Amino acid sequence: MKSELPPKKILEWYLQAGVDETIGDDPVDRFAAIEPAEAPEPVPEKETPPPVPAAPAAPAIGADGASGEARRTAAAAQGVDELRAALEKFEGCGLKKTATNLVFGDGNAEADIIFIGEAPGAEEDRKGVPFVGPSGQLLDRMLASIGLDRTAAYISNTVFWRPPGNRNPTTGEMAVCMPFLERMIELVDPKIVVAVGGPAANSLLGQKTSVGKLRGKWFTYSSAGLAQPVEATAIYHPAYLLRTPAQKRAAWQDLLEIRAKMRTLGCRESTNPL
Ligand code: URA
Repeated sequence: MKSELPPKKILEWYLQAGVDETIGDDPVDRFAAIEPAEAPEPVPEKETPPPVPAAPAAPAIGADGASGEARRTAAAAQGVDELRAALEKFEGCGLKKTATNLVFGDGNAEADIIFIGEAPGAEEDRKGVPFVGPSGQLLDRMLASIGLDRTAAYISNTVFWRPPGNRNPTTGEMAVCMPFLERMIELVDPKIVVAVGGPAANSLLGQKTSVGKLRGKWFTYSSAGLAQPVEATAIYHPAYLLRTPAQKRAAWQDLLEIRAKMRTLGCRESTNPL
């Protein structure tokens, strides 16, 4: 059937449905792929069915799968650059297949404070840098309001590739990226961890409640490679604040709390924030 719609309208329709990336040069007809070439022969009664051929073996990545491989490669990294190189080679997260770039981290890897968001968006995917789109620009202004910029903070995400169409990362995708995130935090070795938004808060603070209930409170974040538990808190995600400006007042209170904690712990601030 020939479409009556002009191509621009069709593209707009795809965009609204969340299809905003081209993945291959040639279209794939998925319906053709699942249609059997011929109708199956009726199986004669009582006849022993032919042996089912074994499924092709999955590539060997260890008995504990992608998560085990993630843990081993992440643990072996002795610096943030090595960790980035290990992630560049890592094939265990499906998000990599549809992403343009690895979005690893940005800022000062020796900072006293680390901010962890949810997942890269379209702009981050294009540039390979976290928080550079509209919500990243608001995050930069939030940091500046408490004397921080990317020379005095490190910024990353719970997953290192953009979920297609900006969907939320699945728990599986977050789980497979977690050893890399944990190792990143160990290598940066901050005094404060800030989870940006609900999914990061749930995964880093181990709390199953909304960010609205977690913000303004202090928790501890620990992992095996950290010398001691680190002070941790959560803030509203800047994307949420852009949609819900009425919550900016609460976000400002949280930022003041973070600045007070930074001063108590003697954290370095930026010499020239925005
Ligand atoms: N939102 C996030 O959570 N992370 C980014 O890097 C960009 C937008």
